[in-house]
Amino acid sequence: MTAAPPATMRGLRVGAFGRVPEVAADLPRPAAGPGTTLVRMAAAALGHLDRSVASGTFPRRPPLPYVPCGDGAGWVEESAAFPRGALVWLRGGGLGVARDGVAAEYAAVPDEAVHLAPDGADPLLAACFFSPATSAHLSVHELADVRAGQHVLVTGGAGAVGSLAVQLALRAGADVTALVSRPERAPLVPDGARVLVGGVDGGAGDGPYDALVETVGGPGLPARLDAVRPGGVAVIVGYTAGTRVELDLPARCVHDVDLRFLNMIRRAPQAFALADGLLSRLSAGDLTLAVDRYRLDEAAAAWQALAAGGARGRVVLEATGDR
Ligand SMILES: NC(=O)c1ccc[n+]([C@@H]2O[C@H](COP(=O)([O-])OP(=O)(O)OC[C@H]3O[C@@H](n4cnc5c(N)ncnc54)[C@H](OP(=O)(O)O)[C@@H]3O)[C@@H](O)[C@H]2O)c1
Repeated sequence: MTAAPPATMRGLRVGAFGRVPEVAADLPRPAAGPGTTLVRMAAAALGHLDRSVASGTFPRRPPLPYVPCGDGAGWVEESAAFPRGALVWLRGGGLGVARDGVAAEYAAVPDEAVHLAPDGADPLLAACFFSPATSAHLSVHELADVRAGQHVLVTGGAGAVGSLAVQLALRAGADVTALVSRPERAPLVPDGARVLVGGVDGGAGDGPYDALVETVGGPGLPARLDAVRPGGVAVIVGYTAGTRVELDLPARCVHDVDLRFLNMIRRAPQAFALADGLLSRLSAGDLTLAVDRYRLDEAAAAWQALAAGGARGRVVLEATGDR
């Protein structure tokens, strides 16, 4: 007779919106059920969306208390749909947004949000690659349509999306300039790009650029639009440095840069189609994504690093205590 699994597990709990999640050792251990796979977690990814949901300002809210984080990876423990022991990455189905997320030792995940990882995939990359890799790919190849010989500016070039956008634009044969806010972020920019230390509100460097991939937003955006050539493209991805900008509309009409916005919810089918290929490339080292590793019980420090712009790549919370 096999022993019954323990009734509780360790994980994060958001008990009230607007507070940093607490580490709890007494979360109810979930179970597999019809249409639901039980996953033993390797790691959860912590991103800006998870902070936004926990703040209570995001348009959708899970019922309280809830387990945060919508992305992660682990091994199938029990499932009618997936083989036991298979490495899977988790994304979709309202995880961490409309229902419990995956920042815990175990997660019961709707089968639609469980994705078999390709052979050779790295568990930590599997946990955190999806948003930055697919966002960077669609920004560079679909929205900006970067071509060989073009001059491309990527802001937040040391960040998760930005560092991948830099690599993909370089692979496309572009000449890439990466903007970072301060000198200590420069070493995080992938090799091959020209690094520009400009602060969040200034410095567009030696344009004109054919394309801008904008991951920080904020007050410096109008100056950067001016540095794109008329007829060029600016792809607005993110706004870590500020959500509001003032645009001089007559000047924008004269200097007609094509402003395009990335909406990864609308583009989810494209993103899922790209995912396996990107995870394989990352796991093989053909593309790199820095992973900033924390244990679940270090979640407060991880939360603070992400909020303060101090994360060194994509933040993951490892479910196992030892490493
Ligand atoms: N539109 C979409 O569908 C979509 C999809 C994915 C991501 N996003 C958004 O894209 C943005 C970038 O995502 P990411 O994962 O690449 O984030 P990230 O790595 O944490 O941040 C990107 C860069 O933003 C700057 N930054 C971060 N926190 C900051 C802060 N508190 N104050 C000022 N600057 C800060 C940093 O630039 P330095 O290194 O130069 O300091 C950092 O490298 C986020 O706003 C995210 O929500 C949007």
